[in-house]
Formats: sequence, C-alpha cells, structure tokens
Amino acid sequence: CKDVGILAMDMYFPPTCVQQEALEVHDGASKGKYTIGLGQDCMAFCSEVEDVISMSLTVVKSLLEKYHIDPKLIGRLEVGSETVIDKSKSIKTWLMQIFEESGNTDIEGVDSSNACYGGTAALLNCVNWVESRCWDGRYGLVVCTDSVYAEGPARPTGGAAAIAMLIGPNAPISFESKYRASHMAHVYDFYKPDLASEYPVVDGKLSQTCYLMALDSCYRQYCAKYEKLVGEQFSISDADYCVFHSPYNKLVQKSFARLYFNDFMRNCSSVDNDAKEKLQPFANLTSEESYQSRDLEKGSQQLAKHLYDIKVQPSTLLPKQIGNMYTASLYAALASVIYNKHASLSGQRIVMFSYGSGLTSTMFSFKLNEGQHPFSLTNIASVLDVTAKLESRHVTSPEKFIDTLKLMEHRYGAKDFETSKDISLLPPGTFYLTKVDSMYRRFYEKK
Ligand code: ACO
Repeated sequence: CKDVGILAMDMYFPPTCVQQEALEVHDGASKGKYTIGLGQDCMAFCSEVEDVISMSLTVVKSLLEKYHIDPKLIGRLEVGSETVIDKSKSIKTWLMQIFEESGNTDIEGVDSSNACYGGTAALLNCVNWVESRCWDGRYGLVVCTDSVYAEGPARPTGGAAAIAMLIGPNAPISFESKYRASHMAHVYDFYKPDLASEYPVVDGKLSQTCYLMALDSCYRQYCAKYEKLVGEQFSISDADYCVFHSPYNKLVQKSFARLYFNDFMRNCSSVDNDAKEKLQPFANLTSEESYQSRDLEKGSQQLAKHLYDIKVQPSTLLPKQIGNMYTASLYAALASVIYNKHASLSGQRIVMFSYGSGLTSTMFSFKLNEGQHPFSLTNIASVLDVTAKLESRHVTSPEKFIDTLKLMEHRYGAKDFETSKDISLLPPGTFYLTKVDSMYRRFYEKK
C-alpha cells in the first residue's frame, strides 16, 4: 500500500505547570539558566490523580472520538514509554479496556521501552506492520507517553504528556521509508537501575555528547542512503523542517548547528561562502575535539541561526512550554510544526531525529500532503488545538510542584491508598486515578 504514515494525531498534557523562571529563583540558580541556558519556558507535571496510564487512556479515547474511529477498526496498538508502573504488565493492556467494550480484543502489540526512543520503536513497528504481509487492512495506533522528573541539575528538564497517532495508508504525513538511518550503541548516560525510585541516574554531560554523536552518525547514513537512491547530495536545504527529540531547547539549537557543520564538512551548497570561511579553522578537528570545542559550538549556532528560525523554530512551541516529554517529545515537536504550518506543508519534507539514552537513535523523514478530511493536516491542526490547551493551563508555584513530587515519591511503588480525587483542574473526558488497592491494583475513573 501507498504513503503509509500518520493519518491522525491527538495530544494530552496535564493542566498543571510550573514556570521555569520561578523555578530558577526557587532552586537558587542564576537568572536565565533555565530560560536562556536551557531555553525552556514552562514545565508540565502530573498531579497525584494523573499518570502515564490515565494520560494514555485520555488521549486514545479522545483521538477515537474526535476522528470518529470505530474501535473495531484498530488492529495493532503499540505504546512507547519509559515510565515504569506495573513492570511486567504493559500500558497497552490498560488501553485494551477501551477496545474490549466494543468487542475488539484482536489487537497486536505491547509496550516498547528504551528511554525517549520507545515512541519511535512503537511507530516503526506499526508502520512495518501496515507495510507487511500480515496487515489485515485495519489501522495501527501508537501512543507515546511519559511523566519523568529527576533530581539535581536535571530537574528543570522533566515534563509530561501523551500523544496518540493513527497509522495507515494514504496518510497526509507519510514515511519516506527508504532513507531511514539508525545509530545504536552501549553507554550509561541515563538509566533507571534503582527500582525503588522513579528517578533516573543521569550523566548529563555524557548524554549531551552521546546525543550529538548519534545525530552525526544518523545524518551521515541518512545522507548516504539518500544519495545512493536519488543520485544527488542531500543537505539541510532538502529538509523544509528539522524536528529533534527535545530534552531542552538549547540542545535542539546545538543539534541543528551540528547538521550545519556536517554540511560544511561535506562541502554542501547549504553553507554559504562567508560561513565556510568562518568554519574553516574547525575543519581539521578530530570528531572528539569537535564535540568539546566551545568556539565551534557557538560559532556554528550563530551561522545557522537564520536557517534555524525557518526550519526548526516552528517545532519548538510545545517542547518549550511542556518540557521533556521523553517518548512523546519528538512527536510533540512534530505536532508543533503541523499546528503552526499546516496550511503550507503540502509537498514538503520533515526530517526527524529520535534519541533514547542507552543508546538508540534513528533519523527518518516524512513527506506531507493535505490529505482528505478527517485525515487532513487542517483537521489534525484543529484537533490538536494547541493554543487553547496551553492558555487554559494552571500555573502553580515551584513549592506546590516540589510538594507534588514529594507525594509522588512517597506513593511510588506503594499500595493501599486513595487519591484526593481532586479533579477540579482536569478538562471533561480526562481519566484519573482514584485508588491503589492492597494488591497494587489501580483504579481509574473518567471525568
Ligand atoms: N544565563 C544564561 N545561560 C546560562 C546561565 C545564565 N544565568 N547559567 C548557565 N547558563 C547556560 C550554560 O552556559 C549552558 O549553556 P551551554 O550548554 O550553551 O554552554 C546551559 O546554561 C546549561 O548550563 P550547565 O551548567 O551546563 O547546566 P547543568 O550542568 O546544571 O545541567 C544538563 C544541564 C546537563 C542538561 C542537565 O539539566 C541534565 O542532566 N539534564 C538531563 C539529561 C538530558 O536531558 N540529556 C539530554 C539527552 S538525553 C535525554 O533526553 C534524557
């Protein structure tokens, strides 16, 4: 079948958030460290009545309703998440409640997890299924969800959200499957070895370098595959938008500058003569030296800035406002482009870079067309309704945010408790946690 890809999208994020500027003051960080240094504006967080299961239930139900999809028409459901709840029991099994109601239990797929990459693994599984001989003509459904916070310097890089994507042929956001490139390796940059804690162990600096090395490797291979098949050099000029996994915006700025530097090293026309002259002093650095050079980092960011504003900035809306959504982060950045630019996307190419610590990474691309209602870019943008959702959020104080995290720490892995059931801030249709019984079984209701 033709043009397999994303037919429909919906997104849910908690209605509670904390401003990074206020968090700077609260944490005693220097002014501008989180807002300019990391490039983040705001961070969403789950209150004690929400978690990855409730957010997934909410977003799946909402997508099916808003696009009028009969639950019987789903043949594969894949979830990407790194937020551990029942360990051996997948989040996917929770979502089956929605499908069991309509008598549909014939749905393949489970959860994929490897840090922020699980959503991409889930998406590729669904796309491969639709393109395979096993496909039975029904839709695939992908859910990416996380709610992750850390301690210490990584605290401002948390976030929470759930995204659902409907997968099938003749999609307005279709995969260019032939140019997919991955880079996978073994490193300890971010992981969760302590099962008694929800927090990760993070080597922040190593994770940044690993991310950029993985980006270089994927880009080189993506370009090589493109060039072999198309017979022309690939450069960032061939991408209308570049969408990155977004732990925090500064890393996205650095990533795009890194692609620009790659283009310079490959002597691409995307880099003008003035920039070539300015980058020349860095041409002989070893790749290890190039990751450590502050002058190269700053210089290439400045030189790539005019292209960043056009090709990357439209993808940064949701990640800057919500924070690192982990598996959902890349797809929230994609949703930002669709929301901001849907009217002019037909015929354009979006290059995507997915990174999960540990490490796993893939670069791939989409070709866009307007599509047909309800599976059209215009309708996806209107369902996403980003501005209204962001504006209706409730800004809480850092103290309240920290109190919530403390309560969650206390509740993590606990049994036999009831939540406050305070759902005053949740929009109608939102699922929420009511209690966990003595057998650790969880109970949810819908507002
Ligand atoms: N005003 C403006 N900028 C400032 C200020 C200030 N007052 N203070 C610091 N900065 C800048 C720094 O110069 C630096 O910018 P640069 O990278 O361009 O040099 C930036 O703010 C961050 O400052 P650092 O001192 O490097 O920050 P810190 O060491 O506290 O932590 C880190 C940053 C490593 C990103 C941390 O938040 C972390 O560990 N996060 C989790 C790991 C992560 O997200 N990794 C990314 C890939 S893996 C994944 O997705 C989980």
